[in-house]
Amino acid sequence: MATPDRNLHPVNLPADWAPQGWRERVAVQQPSYPDQGALATVQRELAALPPLVTSWEIMSLKHCLAEAQEGKRFLLQGGDCAENFSDCSSEVISNRLKVLLQMSLVLVHGLRLPVVRVGRFAGQYAKPRSTDTETRGGQTLPSYRGDIINAPDFTAEARTPDPRRMIKAHARSAMTMNFVRSLIDGGFADLHHPEYWSLGWVGHSPLADEYHRMVSSIGDAVRFMETLSGESVHNINRVDFYTSHEALLLPYEEAQTRQVPRQWGWFNLSTHFPWIGMRTAALDGAHVEYFRGIRNPVAVKIGPSVTPDQLLKLIDVLNPDDEPGRLSLIHRMGAAHIADKLPALLDAVKRDGRRVLWICDPMHGNTESTSNGYKTRRFANIRSEVEQSFDLHAAAGTRLGGVHLELTGEDVTECTGGARDLTDADLERAYRSTVDPRLNYEQALETAMLIVRKQAQIAKPASA
Ligand code: PEP
Ligand code: CO
Repeated sequence: MATPDRNLHPVNLPADWAPQGWRERVAVQQPSYPDQGALATVQRELAALPPLVTSWEIMSLKHCLAEAQEGKRFLLQGGDCAENFSDCSSEVISNRLKVLLQMSLVLVHGLRLPVVRVGRFAGQYAKPRSTDTETRGGQTLPSYRGDIINAPDFTAEARTPDPRRMIKAHARSAMTMNFVRSLIDGGFADLHHPEYWSLGWVGHSPLADEYHRMVSSIGDAVRFMETLSGESVHNINRVDFYTSHEALLLPYEEAQTRQVPRQWGWFNLSTHFPWIGMRTAALDGAHVEYFRGIRNPVAVKIGPSVTPDQLLKLIDVLNPDDEPGRLSLIHRMGAAHIADKLPALLDAVKRDGRRVLWICDPMHGNTESTSNGYKTRRFANIRSEVEQSFDLHAAAGTRLGGVHLELTGEDVTECTGGARDLTDADLERAYRSTVDPRLNYEQALETAMLIVRKQAQIAKPASA
């Protein structure tokens, strides 16, 4: 018998939940808006604007994530640490899309699996900070919390949280989505022409030969299938793109949480796939309370301090029905800690038979400062965390179903190492991030290649 349609047969719809219910809990990492009236006005305005995504798209992503849980797909989630309003430009958006498409091509080719593509964009505007305030030269001001909240300049005016920025973030997100959708619908991602996805660098990169070999072998495969079937593969191979962001700023998320015709429950219609950051994942906190009631697929960042017991409780709250595709766990332990911390979590989830999608974020546990004052990440550590993740999942009998990366299509120098072996001294050449260091296009592609190599090594029988 077919499994019941969860759209028609709601399971355990939380009757005790409302979009504003998080207000009863402790909400960490929220700005203090000086004018609560202005905040309420903005929330009403946001609630009346059209949504950024639809419930149908959200449900189709959930279905894809359910397939990834079964090993039938691999998830690639990536983009900037934080989007800036000033980066909402044609070049930045299309370059980021290109690098994600190139990586997904490498993954599809090497893993022989369809790839679910999820951008960290069209809404990734709010950042958690380690302190609420920042002091410079005797002056103390609120910390910069992302363009949706305030501006980075160190003046009282720039740093005062302004709710109108939410309207601007919503508009920028809509423009980003609109451009991404148009590029994709207009044939930008056509598998017949992967050369359209090329960035200028490919010709002179140490990785160019390997990438071009893949592109031509995919071109051959597409032509072969078309010859065989006598049909164009255009329709079946059109790529989909989904969006995600850290749903940190709860008044913004609440205002876009809606009910829609012909579907039960509530949807966050500002993004397909919101996640809870490591600093806001407390079981009794406001973010977990908000997330438990929405029907989107959701993810949680899992850091080294999470215990197996806490993790199982979090799963109980966020996915009480063990619904396929609903919950992803993004582990971000750091190369030095993952071997210590991850196995107990994998065992506990497996032993309890919980259905989750395991994703590796090899970025956030590997951030360090250089002696010349840059926040960086060493490619060797990123690589090591990815490789250890594959090994640890293989040893535990669980499956690593995706990766979560901070990257850009721009030629930046923010992470060291990689094929060009960037050094600390290279960082000053093109360091642009206002928050975390991102992989540049070449390091991003190299990461996709190393995933493929590692997966191939794991899949080989021990005697081979
Ligand atoms: C992030 O994804 O940018 C982030 C802040 O991550 P985490 O919550 O894992 O620290
Ligand atoms: Co980050």
